[in-house]
Amino acid sequence: MTENKFEFHYDLYNDSSELTERDAWLLTEARSATKEAYAPYSNFYVGAVAMLANGEIVAGTNQENASYPVGICAERVLLGTVATIHPNVEIESIAISYSSQNIKSDHPISPCGMCRQALLEYETRLKKPIRLILGGLEGKVFVIKTVSLLLPFAFTSEELI
Ligand code: THU
Repeated sequence: MTENKFEFHYDLYNDSSELTERDAWLLTEARSATKEAYAPYSNFYVGAVAMLANGEIVAGTNQENASYPVGICAERVLLGTVATIHPNVEIESIAISYSSQNIKSDHPISPCGMCRQALLEYETRLKKPIRLILGGLEGKVFVIKTVSLLLPFAFTSEELI
């Protein structure tokens, strides 16, 4: 038996003013997209905004439903939109932010497990690492170089060949 370790590195910023201009701008877009979320059940409004390799910007927000499991996260709304309106264009970075009526939006959140799987599929499909910029409406910001870091031991299409 050998004990193995998984670890990963990410960049931590004290606030968005320390980011590059481009990343700060994308995070501002994600913060602003939270206003378009439809989240009357959780009151947790998520905005995810992608910067594509062709310079286009696409936004997604969470869309809830009275039948709760029907609701969909901002990240997967975003991926479906990007794949439809800009097929085969790589995603360079996605900024994700949130606002909430219940908690202070002063720390980063990271994508749920289902969204990590969906993001990884997109990264693999387009063969381009997707950077994540994670931050609340204020406070610390995480920058993660590739989605694959968030999903160790991932199940991928390689198992299906
Ligand atoms: N949500 C997202 O949109 N993205 C995440 O990464 C985590 C959770 C949404 C789903 C639901 O509408 C609300 O946030 C509360 O879970």
